[in-house]
Amino acid sequence: MIKDLFVRKRLSDLLHEVENNNSLKRHLTGTNLVLLGVGGVIGAGIFVLTGTAAAVHAGPAVAISFAVSAIGCMLAGLSYAEFSSMIPVSGSAYTYGYATMGEFIAWIIGWDLILEYLFGAATVAVGWSGYVVSFFNFFGIHIPDSISQSPLSFGTDGWAFTGAYINFPAIFIVLLMTALLVVGIRESAKFNNIIVLIKVAVILLFIGFGISHIDIANWVPFIPENTGKFGEFGMSGILSAAAVVFFAYIGFDAVSTASQEAINPKRDMPIGILVSLAICTVLYIAVSLTLTGIVSYKELNVAAPIAIAIDKFGPSLLWLSPIVKFGAIAGLSSVVLVLLMGQSRIFFIMAQDGLLWKSFAKVHPKYRTPHVTTIVTGLVSAFFAGFFPIGLLSEMVSIGTLLAFVIVSIGVIILRKTEPDAPRAFKTPWVPLIPALGAIICLVQMASLPLDTWIRLIGWMAIGFVIYFTYSVKHSKTRKGKL
Ligand code: ALA
Repeated sequence: MIKDLFVRKRLSDLLHEVENNNSLKRHLTGTNLVLLGVGGVIGAGIFVLTGTAAAVHAGPAVAISFAVSAIGCMLAGLSYAEFSSMIPVSGSAYTYGYATMGEFIAWIIGWDLILEYLFGAATVAVGWSGYVVSFFNFFGIHIPDSISQSPLSFGTDGWAFTGAYINFPAIFIVLLMTALLVVGIRESAKFNNIIVLIKVAVILLFIGFGISHIDIANWVPFIPENTGKFGEFGMSGILSAAAVVFFAYIGFDAVSTASQEAINPKRDMPIGILVSLAICTVLYIAVSLTLTGIVSYKELNVAAPIAIAIDKFGPSLLWLSPIVKFGAIAGLSSVVLVLLMGQSRIFFIMAQDGLLWKSFAKVHPKYRTPHVTTIVTGLVSAFFAGFFPIGLLSEMVSIGTLLAFVIVSIGVIILRKTEPDAPRAFKTPWVPLIPALGAIICLVQMASLPLDTWIRLIGWMAIGFVIYFTYSVKHSKTRKGKL
C-alpha cells in the first residue's frame, strides 16, 4: 500500500524508546562532542583539496570559497541542531526523516548516508595511505606502490588495472579504527580527543610560522580573472571551488549519530554540531589564506600543498615538514574513526526499526557498542579502501551528504507544522527562511556535480530500493505497529 510507504514514527514513541530502551552507554560530554565534530571534519579536505581548489578554480579567493561552503553547512547545521536536541536518537538524519516524511524517505536517507559515512571513511583512508607513504619516504623508507595503491583505476576510458595489488595502509587504518570502536565509545572518544589536539596544534603551527612568510604579492589579484570558462577563476571559480572544498566540512553532522551516547544530548548536541563547525571554518579560512600567501596559487595543484608551503620556509624550519605530515596522518585517522562510528550507529538504528537484518541491532555484552554493525561497516569500508579508485567515490560522498542536508532542512519546516508544540531545546532561527535557504544552497551545489555522479546516485538508490521492497517492508516494526 502506497500509504504505508509514508508511515511515520511518532515523536513521543521515539522519545519513549530512547529513554526506556537505550542499550548504548552515555559517556560523551559536551566537550567530547565538539571534539568529535572537529575530529570528523578536519582531514583530507584541508590537507589535500585546498591546493587543487586554489590552483584550478579560485586562486587566493579559495578562502572565500571556504566561507561560502561554510554558509551552506551552517544553515544545514542549524537544522541538525534543532532535530538532534529534540530527537536525541543515534539515527541522525534517518530518524529525523522517519519522524517527518515517513519510512520510505527515511530509508532513502539511511541508504544515502552510507555514501557519506562508509564511502567517506574509505576515501579518507586512501588519503591517509598517501600521507603515510610520503612520511616514511622522508625517513628513507619506501613503501612500494604495489601494496599502497588501488589495483583499479577509473578514467575517461573506463576501468583499468594499475599494476598494484592492494592499498594495504588504507585497509590497515580502517580495521584499526574499527577495532577501537568495538572496544568502546569512551576509548574512541579519548583517542579522538588526543588526535584533535595534535591536528589543531599542527595547523596552528603552520599558521603561526607561515604568517611571517606571507608575500602579499601572492594575493594579487585576490580573485584571478575568469579564463572564459565556467569555474576557472572569477566568481564562477569561487563557486566551483566551494563545491570542491565542501568535502572538507563533511563530518560535523556525524556528531548527531552519537546522540544516544551523549550524557546531556538536548543541551550538548547543538553545541557539538555548531561549535565544531565554527572552529573548522575559522581554521580553514586561516590556513587557505596562509597557504596562498606563501606559495603562488599556480604552484598548488599537488597532493600535499601544505608541505610545498613549508619547503618555502627555508632549511631552518625543515623539521616542521615531518611534524605536519604526522599531524595530517593523525588527523585523517580520526576522520576515519568518526565516519565509521556514524555509519555503524545508523545501521544499528535501522536494524532496530526492522529495516535491516536483526543481527545489526546487536550490542556487545561487555563493551556495550553496536559491534556487529561496526565490524560489518569496517570490513566493507576496508574493502573499498583497499581495492577501489577512491577519486570516483569522493564525489559520491559529497552528493550523498548534500542530499541528506536537503532532506533534514526540509524536515525542520515540516516538523514545525506537524509537531508545533513539541519541546525543542534548540530552535533554528527564522524558520522557514533559514532551512529553506539551506536546502536551496545544497541543491545548487548538487546541481554543480557532474551528470555521471547523478547517474551513480540513482543507481545506488535503485540497489537500496531492491533491499527495501524485498526485505524492509516485510520486517518494518513501525508498519506492524510494534513501535
Ligand atoms: N571532512 C573530512 C575530510 O576533509 C571528510 O577529510
